[in-house]
Amino acid sequence: MSQQQPKTNPERMEKIVSLCKRRGFVFQSSEIYGGLNGCWDYGPLGVELKRNLKDYWWRVMVRERDDVVGMDGSILMNRAVWKASGHEETFTDPMVDCRNCKARHRADQLPEKEGVPYCPNCGSRDLTEARAFNLMFETYVGATQDESSKVYLRPETAQAIFVQFKNVLEVSRKKLPFGIAQVGKAFRNEINPRNFTFRSREFEQMELEYFCAPSQGRDLLEYWLQERLRFYENIGLPREKLHVHEIPAEERAFYSQGTYDIEFEFPFGIQELEGVAYRTDYDLTQHIKASGKPLDYFDEETKQRFVPHVVEPSAGVDRTALALICSAYDEETVTDEKGKSETRIVLRFHPRIAPVKVGIFPLLKNNPQLVAKAREITALLRPHMMTFYDEGGAIGRRYRRQDEVGTPFGITVDFETLGEKGDELKDTVTLRHRDSMKQERVAIKDLLGLILPQVV
Ligand code: GAP
Repeated sequence: MSQQQPKTNPERMEKIVSLCKRRGFVFQSSEIYGGLNGCWDYGPLGVELKRNLKDYWWRVMVRERDDVVGMDGSILMNRAVWKASGHEETFTDPMVDCRNCKARHRADQLPEKEGVPYCPNCGSRDLTEARAFNLMFETYVGATQDESSKVYLRPETAQAIFVQFKNVLEVSRKKLPFGIAQVGKAFRNEINPRNFTFRSREFEQMELEYFCAPSQGRDLLEYWLQERLRFYENIGLPREKLHVHEIPAEERAFYSQGTYDIEFEFPFGIQELEGVAYRTDYDLTQHIKASGKPLDYFDEETKQRFVPHVVEPSAGVDRTALALICSAYDEETVTDEKGKSETRIVLRFHPRIAPVKVGIFPLLKNNPQLVAKAREITALLRPHMMTFYDEGGAIGRRYRRQDEVGTPFGITVDFETLGEKGDELKDTVTLRHRDSMKQERVAIKDLLGLILPQVV
């Protein structure tokens, strides 16, 4: 976390958590059995939000580049991978127990009074000495459960990329600098999962390992920091809420020659979204030593053989999704034509990542012609974007329901659409904009061309 003291807003966070459940973004995992700490299920809207985020990441990090290819590694890997990477030995957090209430805490996150740490649960200062707790979940492959069959659920996606470096290099016929990207689940047995989905035990990562010559590492670290900041702005996170924290040399992993954390101002404080790290040749060298396999690179031009260095932008899907929701959440007072005021809750998502792009409403549900037209428009737009058809309740209520989940556009089919107010308005609809609530008249044939470029 950066040095700046974040202003926290627990009340805002409570409202966001409650909206997430009420509208189907996020549910507690196994809720009917009392839940499972640190695990979350994404509902119909949450899964769309995450999918849009991952798809956009994949688009800009892989598809729109000549120098990056993708892969999808397995979650279970040979245990030797985690011995070589150092995770088996050192992927630990310091843990303390409170002797009074028996609660467990991360020693580095304890509150202090007059420089003395105390238990955040009961206030006692009677804490055990800190001891290292390995965060990897263990399981066993096959029928016997002993040391020889022990494996881990991967705590990061990155290692699959390092151990497949040679295969991917050969099949993709890339030259340095080039990258391998991956999106997938990771698991960490966090001592204290907290802040909703922010620190979970099961989560998703979006990682790029960008391999380069040693001389390029420092510049590429700066390049990827800027690229990643641009990414967050392009999904709608305001630049002023993003912070860059340069990790000082004494706090960095010993092999890193530079690390930046990209942080976001959550209602619970300024916290990390992504790490951008220059990891030198550490990972590949470790796997060369442990496997005895040559994971080096031959540069045709200089005729030199060397172990590539790597710059790693490593982002969390769940944290970014949470940042998007927190950033989008807004409440405003609006007054209707009769002068009645009410609070409008609106998620001001960038249209690109909004779970539903357009709500489609027939003015009256018991008019077959209005319904048929609205269904026709739904069929027209549906192959290209997520739509939501809603015929229930007053039109104002239907708009509000979509505002609350961040749908950027609303289309209303009314009697003008049917040609009842003259031919010039026939086959036109009302297009409503979520943020301004402004409405315009648009021909049905122009809808796709107008909306699609704004939501991709
Ligand atoms: N390969 C490098 C790596 O895994 P990390 O900083 O440990 O680095 C990268 O993790 C990103 O993964 C973090 O910036 C965060 O977004 C996400 N992440 C890590 N632990 C998480 C957790 N317990 N819950 C949710 N996201 C997490």
